[in-house]
Amino acid sequence: MARILITSAIPYINGIKHLGNLVGSQLPADLFARFNRAMGHEVMFICATDEHGTPAELAAAKAGKPVDVYCAEMHEVQKDLAAGFRLSFDHFGRSSSQRNHRLTQHFAGKLAENGLIEEVSEKQVFSIDDNRFLPDRYITGTCPNCGYEAARGDQCENCTKQLDPTDLINPRSSISGSTNLEVRETKHLYLRQRSLRDKLEAWIDSKHDWPILTTSIAKKWLNDGDGLQDRGITRDLHWGIPVKKGDQPWPGMEGKVFYVWFDAPIEYIAATAEWADANGKADADWERWWRTDMGAADVTYYQFMGKDNVPFHTLSFPATILGSGEPWKMVDYLKSFNYLNYDGGQFSTSQGRGVFMDQALSILPADYWRWWLLSHAPESSDSEFTWENFQTSVNKDLADVLGNLVSRVTKFAVSKFGNDVPAGGHFGPLETALIADLGARITDYTRLMEQMEVRKAAAELRAIWVIGNEYLQAAAPWSVVKTDPEQAQAIIRLALNLIRVYAVLSAPFIPDASATMLQAMGTDDQSWPHDISAAMRALPAGHAFTVPENLFRKITDEERSDWQARFSGVRT
Ligand code: 2FM
Ligand code: ZN
Repeated sequence: MARILITSAIPYINGIKHLGNLVGSQLPADLFARFNRAMGHEVMFICATDEHGTPAELAAAKAGKPVDVYCAEMHEVQKDLAAGFRLSFDHFGRSSSQRNHRLTQHFAGKLAENGLIEEVSEKQVFSIDDNRFLPDRYITGTCPNCGYEAARGDQCENCTKQLDPTDLINPRSSISGSTNLEVRETKHLYLRQRSLRDKLEAWIDSKHDWPILTTSIAKKWLNDGDGLQDRGITRDLHWGIPVKKGDQPWPGMEGKVFYVWFDAPIEYIAATAEWADANGKADADWERWWRTDMGAADVTYYQFMGKDNVPFHTLSFPATILGSGEPWKMVDYLKSFNYLNYDGGQFSTSQGRGVFMDQALSILPADYWRWWLLSHAPESSDSEFTWENFQTSVNKDLADVLGNLVSRVTKFAVSKFGNDVPAGGHFGPLETALIADLGARITDYTRLMEQMEVRKAAAELRAIWVIGNEYLQAAAPWSVVKTDPEQAQAIIRLALNLIRVYAVLSAPFIPDASATMLQAMGTDDQSWPHDISAAMRALPAGHAFTVPENLFRKITDEERSDWQARFSGVRT
């Protein structure tokens, strides 16, 4: 039994995530967690909400709520949606937790002890009416290069020129519109990442099995021109983790907080500590996942995230950990994803374009979405959600292939032989061939799941469902029963066992349907069919089963066009 630590990138607190966010981290991480539990491994699966930063403050202000209240509420909303999608986190934490405060301050203290923190004085725009420093992108003005009037302080959207806020003509606060701005001197902490460059490079070079997407992004940031910059890790904001050196005050840093990207990945560790607190466990119980001196040396750690998060996880967060000089567990395998597009464009949170997690669950159960998203995961390139494709996939794969097999077999079995697995006949050549084919495909499927080849694993699972249908077509128990009822009993005995095997294999993708199938088969035997011959005999003659409710319904053309219109933009 191995010990597997899995973290999903932690979603920002401000707003409900769309399906593109979901398939880029949380959902494939859940697939992998479920699979590893099914393999009998000890799994710790962690996620959380990412609660700091200006966007959280602004979203709270827009909602007319104090930011801590807003975050607490949105955390519950996201937690419920995660449960709705059957995301099987061991803990869904909060980056604003006391655990994260203490750990983040601890890491900063260690980095300072090791000479890796520099105090830098810089000039920043302060908005007198907003009573706050403005991050560059919250300053708007006219671009000195092209004259565009709504250029942002970090970049002009129109001509793409990188800007400094002080370059803007007629600058104003994007928060209040106020032009009552002044440049003030402010002091910040910088993490001297450049001095860790060689260590980081050696560490990245030691990862021979990482996906190309991951290493290419890491290398680009490490090597491109001045890619690896020293990085400001503090901000002049009110909401965040107060800057401290361990538990000591940091002179000159009063009133400042750590930058959200400094504390967010540390929350992976803190959330595991929150898990311990929530379950009455000791510190040693979370430390054995994270401290290589406390048992984590035999943990294998996997991270899941979208490609935009890769630089922070291959450079910044490792710099924090390496720089601490302490024996923290570092990631072993980083699975990253491209983007999912929506119906000829992009998902857009601001324009409400695309399907958001709450909307998805309001129209169809989780399994439908899980199946489509995972079987179309944007692994080797970006992929696209279209309603036509979704409808075809659900109607064919789920309803026609899997759902239909389950319903045909169970209904026929009950009508001819009653509610027990029938005893007659013997497995013949067709059954032997099916079992051999299944065995080979399950080996393949298991390997693809181990390798996190999400799309390929889904394709193999679909193929496993298809060969069951083909077998039934060929074996034709509904005809055989008229001439050789004993043989028809053997076919049905095999087919009922097939349903249990399908339930087990499909559980990581479609956990609800899987549970329904197992319940109908009257078993909670979820053992992985490593030995397919034995697995196809697990439900013995005389074992009671029932006919489940229809597993999947079809999506009609009318629904499809309704939904297409409904989700095309401007969320109300
Ligand atoms: O991109 C995002 O949604 C970020 N909130 C991910 C943070 S992952 C980690 F660093 F915690
Ligand atoms: Zn411009």
